[in-house]
Amino acid sequence: MKNVAIIYWTGTGNTQAMAEGILEGAKNGDANVRLINVFDAKIEDVENADAVAFGCPSMGAEQLEEAEMEPFIESIAGVMGGKKTILFGSYGWGDGEWMTEWQDRMEGYGANMLADGFIINNDADKEGIKRCNEIGALLLKE
Ligand SMILES: Cc1cc2nc3c(=O)[nH]c(=O)nc-3n(C[C@H](O)[C@H](O)[C@H](O)COP(=O)(O)O)c2cc1C
Repeated sequence: MKNVAIIYWTGTGNTQAMAEGILEGAKNGDANVRLINVFDAKIEDVENADAVAFGCPSMGAEQLEEAEMEPFIESIAGVMGGKKTILFGSYGWGDGEWMTEWQDRMEGYGANMLADGFIINNDADKEGIKRCNEIGALLLKE
């Protein structure tokens, strides 16, 4: 059975709601799908996954959250080669620069991006959650 990990950081719950939408979409297939707060995530969770989704809102000035997500992403550089990957996150007022830079970085690590980084302004509406479900289904792709 496939292993899928959805690893996220959230401050006010918007990115968590996206993660839960992605989980729903990924649960429809024959896969072991785990939702993991980055506080509890280990490098092995990424290493052992066939596909992985990372979620983090735009923080700082168009940056990843610096205490947990930033060091975690740095720590997995060596296990990302060929890994099926999706990035997602919520933002407030910017133009999505944090996500473009994050995607470039993951591609630099050798990740196999299944889609462009998926961003939602503040909290996801019904349509946004539906898109999260669709993005989740991509994690099961061969
Ligand atoms: C300290 C801080 C810094 C932020 N910096 C940015 C930013 O640079 N660009 C942006 O678009 N939104 C920024 N935001 C807004 C968050 O990305 C937005 O509120 C998002 O919905 C939070 O997601 P969450 O509910 O998953 O924590 C910032 C929010 C905080 C609290």
